[in-house]
Amino acid sequence: MSGLKGRDLLSMTDLSAEETLTLLQLAADLKQGKIKPICRKSLGLLFYKASTRTRVSFFAAMSQLGGQVIDLNTSSMQIGRGEPLADTARVLDRYLDVLAIRTFAHGDVETYANYAKMPIINALTDLEHPCQVLADLQTIQEYFGQLAGLKLAYLGDGNNMAHSLMLGCATVGIDIAIACPANFTPDATIVDRARSIAAINGTEVVVTQSPQEAVSNVHVVYTDVWASMGQEAEADTRLPVFQPYQVNRELLTLTDPDSIVLHCLPAHRGEEITEDVLEGTRSLVWDQAENRLHAQKSLLVSVLGAD
Ligand code: CP
Ligand code: NVA
Repeated sequence: MSGLKGRDLLSMTDLSAEETLTLLQLAADLKQGKIKPICRKSLGLLFYKASTRTRVSFFAAMSQLGGQVIDLNTSSMQIGRGEPLADTARVLDRYLDVLAIRTFAHGDVETYANYAKMPIINALTDLEHPCQVLADLQTIQEYFGQLAGLKLAYLGDGNNMAHSLMLGCATVGIDIAIACPANFTPDATIVDRARSIAAINGTEVVVTQSPQEAVSNVHVVYTDVWASMGQEAEADTRLPVFQPYQVNRELLTLTDPDSIVLHCLPAHRGEEITEDVLEGTRSLVWDQAENRLHAQKSLLVSVLGAD
């Protein structure tokens, strides 16, 4: 835990396998009520995009730990009138102990991390969503009792979720297959990075256009919206392109008989996932959403360290 004190989490690549597993163990301990108060510390939330789970779970996590949360309203801050990020970062650093940022360009969280000494947490960028993947791994580990040796298929857009899942799965020894339409493949640099991490663990990172190939005998089926925040104008034209990648009952017949279904939420029923699968017995999406709270509490305790 102490090894993460003061560190940023911008990408899943910022965590080694050992650090990831340590965070997951701490999350499990916190879930069982072994809470370490971190009174007097302040978490800032700087969100340029909508959020329910991330915003509220960070708020609840910090409050339950005994710290305080300052919800920064981007539209009433001077950044909205052109104050540089580098200046804002250095000023916020004088007031806060940790800052979680949700924004568009990944480079912006890197700028904050470069200019602020306090830990900066990526609460979602267009490139990655590492906090979600910590909760996803916690959920998988709770259900299967292990991570290494499992297989996960992600169906849909090669987006921020696909990227962080590839990196996170590769780190903890899960085989991952990403199935997406030809023009919506994940970032090639991230695929290469995930493959080089996977090679160390002897696992695979597959990118395919075939959803059937991706889900064959997998333990976890994962999906996300077909148009992410900022891509709303493309939502209608994407529908027919992504239709073959829908997670539905027929597709699940190809998976391991004990497979589970995950979705980071919010879900678009009838698009990337059918109503019956989302609400069905294989779906662990509500436990997954709950684990955002525990995984982020674990992250906050770790990056803030003990007094
Ligand atoms: N999964 C997730 O990050 O949800 P929110 O957008 O509601 O935070
Ligand atoms: N890919 C989605 C994830 C939402 C949690 C988005 O960026 O909108």
